[in-house]
Order: sequence, then structure tokens, then C-alpha cells
Amino acid sequence: MNNPAQPVAIITGASSGIGEAAARVLGRAGYRVVLAARRLDRLEVLQGEIEAAGGKALPVETDVSNLESLKNLIKRTLEAYGRIDVLFNNAGFGRFKWLEELDPAKDIAGQIEVNLTGVIQLTSLVLPTMIQQKSGHIINMASMAGYVATPTYTVYAATKHGLRGFTDALRREVGIWGVRVSALYPGGVSTEFGSHTGAERKTGITTPKALLLTPEDVGNWVLRLAQNNRSRNVPLPWVSWLGIWLNRFFPGLNDWIIERTFTKPERGL
Ligand SMILES: NC(=O)c1ccc[n+]([C@@H]2O[C@H](COP(=O)([O-])OP(=O)(O)OC[C@H]3O[C@@H](n4cnc5c(N)ncnc54)[C@H](OP(=O)(O)O)[C@@H]3O)[C@@H](O)[C@H]2O)c1
Repeated sequence: MNNPAQPVAIITGASSGIGEAAARVLGRAGYRVVLAARRLDRLEVLQGEIEAAGGKALPVETDVSNLESLKNLIKRTLEAYGRIDVLFNNAGFGRFKWLEELDPAKDIAGQIEVNLTGVIQLTSLVLPTMIQQKSGHIINMASMAGYVATPTYTVYAATKHGLRGFTDALRREVGIWGVRVSALYPGGVSTEFGSHTGAERKTGITTPKALLLTPEDVGNWVLRLAQNNRSRNVPLPWVSWLGIWLNRFFPGLNDWIIERTFTKPERGL
């Protein structure tokens, strides 16, 4: 049933991982979910699952690095549902190699286009609707790399730091219209993300199991933010605040630790 009283959430990157989990969580909670990503076949399977459970979903094949594709996403959403209550800007990828080894087009420009430019452009297309409604919540998927930048994460960290600046500035711009702007900053999440990074580690350093989040953990936070009429920046898990404070108040010590435990052994020095 397409019930106009039900809120509407657009989720980018809904074909796997965090976006897919968030779509399930929001669908169960009564949101009509618009599923956006390039792999339409996966979106259609997810639509079937959400609708079999009594929810409502609209799959829209979308490339967030293509402006026309973003315009089509908004058009299809408004035609089908007539409003937008939540935009979860989640699509993204990381390429974790030394900067001089990144491909200038696919890895450098590509990460910026998908992780940052696409988010900014899609948000600008959604805002007129939210401002007119005098309500809405934009939730950006940043990363712990939006607070703490580490070697091999240069471009990725630039995009996620960029999202933090974008989130803070926009929140101060649109709050007067009742539009909320939040961001999530997870550490490691067990998804397909790691299989696309190209990372080759000599040290084997990775997120400790105890700190690894599930996509559902993050999806539940998306719902929590969506249902709360307050803008927030949320690092996950909460213990990551320790790393943020270390980096902020003792940056020289953090450089020293990272160079000795990661950069030198990874460079074979
Ligand atoms: N996993 C982690 O450890 C972690 C930690 C912190 C933050 N994050 C962030 O969380 C977000 C989701 O990542 P994930 O872990 O769920 O990884 P994932 O399973 O690889 O999912 C990435 C999603 O982004 C979509 N996507 C990529 N490029 C796209 C494009 N050009 N247009 C449209 N959609 C695109 C993919 O869909 P298609 O390929 O079908 O287009 C896929 O649905 C990313 O922004 C990532 O930076 C992840």
C-alpha cells in the first residue's frame, strides 16, 4: 500500500552493506524507501523482500556521480511518493593505497565525485522540497576518516573531512526551516566495502573484532537519527571518541605512533 501518511526516505548505496541494512530497518519502521544504486537487480530483490514484509519500496537505478541520474532519482521519488522526509547520503567507496599509486581518474577523481560531489549535488536537489515542507533530515555517511586521517586514506579522508564541513555548514544554513543535517562517522563495518579498496597490508593491521560494527548497527542509527528532530554528528562506536581526542589534542604523538606502527613497516623501512 502507498500510504501518503507514511514518511519517505531516499537511501543511496542501497544495493549492499550499510545502505541495504538501513533500507530494511527504515522499511520495517514504516518508511516508504527509495532504493538508489547502480545495480538495479539487487535493488529489485531488496524491494521484493521489503514489500513481502508489508513495507513499500521504489528501486531507482542511480549513479551518484552523474547529475542527470540524480535529477531522475528526485523526479521518480516525487512522482511516486510526493514528499521526501529523509535523505541518507550513503553511497561511497574507498581506495586505500599510497597516493602516488592511486589512479588519477578512477581512484582520485572517482572517490571525490562519488563520496563528496554526488552527496552535495543530491542534497541541493532535495533541499527545495524539504524547505517547502519545513521538515526533513539529511543524514550523511561520513567515516572515522572524517575525524582522523591515516596513511593510504588520503583521498578518502579528504572526502570524509569534506562531508563533515559540508554537514556542519549546511546544518547552520537550513535549521531555520526545520531541516536537520546529521552525519555518522563509523570505524570498521563488516560489508563488501573492504573488497573494493585495493589495500595490501604487510602489517595485517585491521579493525579489531570487538570494535567492528555490523551494517544493522549503523542502519539502526540511521533510524534513530531519522526519528529524532535534532541534528547530530555521531562517531561509532562511542569508544572512537578516544581516538578523536588523541588526534585533536596530541597530533604529534598520533603522528609518531602511526609512523612507527604503520607507515614504516608498510613501506618496508
Ligand atoms: N564498511 C566500512 O568499514 C565503512 C566505514 C565507515 C564508513 N563507510 C561508508 O559507508 C558507506 C557505505 O559503504 P558500505 O560499507 O556499505 O560498502 P558497500 O557494501 O561496498 O556499499 C557501497 C554502496 O555504494 C554504492 N555505490 C558506489 N558507487 C556508486 C555510484 N557511483 N552511484 C551509486 N551508488 C554507488 C554501491 O552500489 P552499486 O555498486 O550498486 O552502485 C553500494 O550499494 C560508504 O560511504 C562508506 O564510505 C563504510
